[in-house]
Amino acid sequence: MGPIILSSGGYPVITSTAYERREGTLFAEGVSTVAIADAVGTPAYVYSAGTVRTRYRRLAKAFHGVPHRIHFAMKANANLSILRLLRGLGAGVDIVSGGELFRAREAGFQGSDVVFSGVGKTRREIEDALDAEVALINVESEAELRCIDEVAAARGAIAPVAFRLNPEVTVSTPHAYIRTGEKGNKFGLSREEIGRLLRVLTYLPNVSLRGIGMHLGSQIQDAEALRTALPVLVDAITAARAAGQPIDHMDVGGGLAVPYESGEPEADVEGYAQLVKEAALALGVQVLLEPGRFLVAEAGVLLTRVVYRKESAGTAFVITDAGMSDLIRPSLYDAHHEIEAVQAVERQVVADVVGPICESGDFFAKRREVADVAQGELLAIRTTGAYGYTMASNYNARPRPVEVLVDGDQFAVIAEREQYEDLVRLERTALTWRSA
Ligand code: LLP
Repeated sequence: MGPIILSSGGYPVITSTAYERREGTLFAEGVSTVAIADAVGTPAYVYSAGTVRTRYRRLAKAFHGVPHRIHFAMKANANLSILRLLRGLGAGVDIVSGGELFRAREAGFQGSDVVFSGVGKTRREIEDALDAEVALINVESEAELRCIDEVAAARGAIAPVAFRLNPEVTVSTPHAYIRTGEKGNKFGLSREEIGRLLRVLTYLPNVSLRGIGMHLGSQIQDAEALRTALPVLVDAITAARAAGQPIDHMDVGGGLAVPYESGEPEADVEGYAQLVKEAALALGVQVLLEPGRFLVAEAGVLLTRVVYRKESAGTAFVITDAGMSDLIRPSLYDAHHEIEAVQAVERQVVADVVGPICESGDFFAKRREVADVAQGELLAIRTTGAYGYTMASNYNARPRPVEVLVDGDQFAVIAEREQYEDLVRLERTALTWRSA
């Protein structure tokens, strides 16, 4: 049972080449990140289109030879231009809310390109999904299954659904918050529960069970979990078919790991694909994949400028104009992101890299050896194309940053920086009081 994350394993390792240095300056493809920061200001998220293409093609190639569709988990990066880029490559989307359905459609996706996941879909979201004729709704409870049946009946429709299996395997992920396929977790249905729901289905004429899926968690770094979980999934599909259900999809979720620290190994996508392909070919099902991070994380950097330097009780601080409102992963998961000086600096310093927000948890690195940058200089926080902007907030009344797409030697703003006016746009001061 070897790891699925390997740096070699006989497969060529494709590392991101989108961010390279030219005469000491960090370039995003053919564009200087200094030029981008000068043009649009900081903090700024920058994404490399070429990296997204490379990642998508690598995954598609690994699954060559088995019917499959890559549904991008758009919670990782929901910018319309990123979605359009992926749509152009042939991707569908994995959504988890009505808002994501709206965004997906704005980006040009059809209902048939959409798989709807999530543990708490509201009736309204289910109505919208059925009206959009989504490809599959992933069911996570009996109550939800009954709700989908009712909503479909009211529309004279048959809802295509998949059961989301919780394979109850313990996985090793960098942080407990990103595990989803464990026993006692809120996600999915146990194998026994699926057995029971197969009987319940007999009484629900407006749902059609088309698939069974699972999602083990994020940053899955060993094959053990997949090797343990796949037979449970295969067994559930076999049982569903024996119960007369026309299962033609097997959804293996997302979770492919990417390296965040330099020197960390790459995902052995080909080894992962091999395991899934064997199971899918034996069953004669189409594979659905829901990768988020794998496709976009390495495409992104967060550019930020050093506002001040200071020392306090022997600790050196680099204070940046980006904060946890822009990138919350270090604060929330203790996540590691490499931090580089945009313009190479000779000296290194052990410092805390922190944001301007009034929280001790507002940091990007602690006691880390980083470039000894001066006030006004630029830093790039790497591997922030996934779960960066989508988890950004307005905490401390901070407008969300600008987003920029680079393609070759050109760049374009794909989301404007929020303005102060945007911060109060939904608020009312002339109040309309109502009594119940
Ligand atoms: N499918 C389902 C049902 C999911 O819940 C997720 C992620 C994915 C696919 C995509 O997983 P990925 O391939 O991106 O690992 N905010 C966290 C990650 C939470 C992911 C939640 N679900 C982070 O910043 O690491």
